[in-house]
Amino acid sequence: NKKFTVTSFLEAKKKNQKITMLTAYDYSTAKLIDEAGIESILVGDSLGMVVLGYESTLEVTVDDIIHHCRAVSRGVKNALIVGDMPFLSYHISVEDAVRNAGRIIQEGKAHAVKLEGGAEVIDKIKAITKAQIPVMGHLGLTPQSVNMFGGFKVQGKSEYQAKKIINDAIELEKAGAFAIVLEGIPAKLADIITEKISIPTIGIGAGNNCDGQVLVTNDMLGMFSDFTPKFVKKYANLKENILHAIKRYISEVKSSEFPSEEHTFSIDEDILKKLV
Ligand code: KIV
Ligand code: NA
Repeated sequence: NKKFTVTSFLEAKKKNQKITMLTAYDYSTAKLIDEAGIESILVGDSLGMVVLGYESTLEVTVDDIIHHCRAVSRGVKNALIVGDMPFLSYHISVEDAVRNAGRIIQEGKAHAVKLEGGAEVIDKIKAITKAQIPVMGHLGLTPQSVNMFGGFKVQGKSEYQAKKIINDAIELEKAGAFAIVLEGIPAKLADIITEKISIPTIGIGAGNNCDGQVLVTNDMLGMFSDFTPKFVKKYANLKENILHAIKRYISEVKSSEFPSEEHTFSIDEDILKKLV
């Protein structure tokens, strides 16, 4: 296994090789999915819902992202780590955006940052990339805009919206983004964008022809079931496994079946005699 970098993203698109990405928020999970060979790990602001139990991603702070990026970075050998820029960390000013992106790299040890939006964030993307920080864009059903969208609705179904997303993608590439996540848009629209731009598109609910795919690990492993969007495929049902294991543990402790010999330490019989 070799290290996956932002240049690997561009090479993969040129060679028509699909890019694989999953989220992680902690050391153990990051280590596992890196060992499995994932090319990129996103420390997404989905951590708000998945790990911290918030109602939306809007409550996540830069400090939250840094804390989890650090944990993930300790478990990763080869994957490119992308730290999500949370709500309000890049909206106020260009200076603020560069400072917060810089903290996610410097303190969080991420290799790149991701931020949501199109034309509105072009000045921020330009400034952050000028600071030598690679930026991943994110268009379509961008969760930080949930209150503007009036809910989690597929974006880009109308001509106006679809044209805006296409133009935004072109603008993001021009501004220096190295890849773009396309979330919750019609597959045919994602196809057009993937054709039109030379940086890779990473789809989540954007059909099969994107240059790569990303999913929330806890969703695809069947560990997080508060809400399961249509685009999630469950590759495991860990919730069932975990519930089964916990219930067995409870029952074995109650019945004194656990711990048995094999999980117990012994002491020399001569020493023992002197203790009682
Ligand atoms: O926060 C996140 O997990 C994301 C992915 C769903 C793209 O932004
Ligand atoms: Na996110």
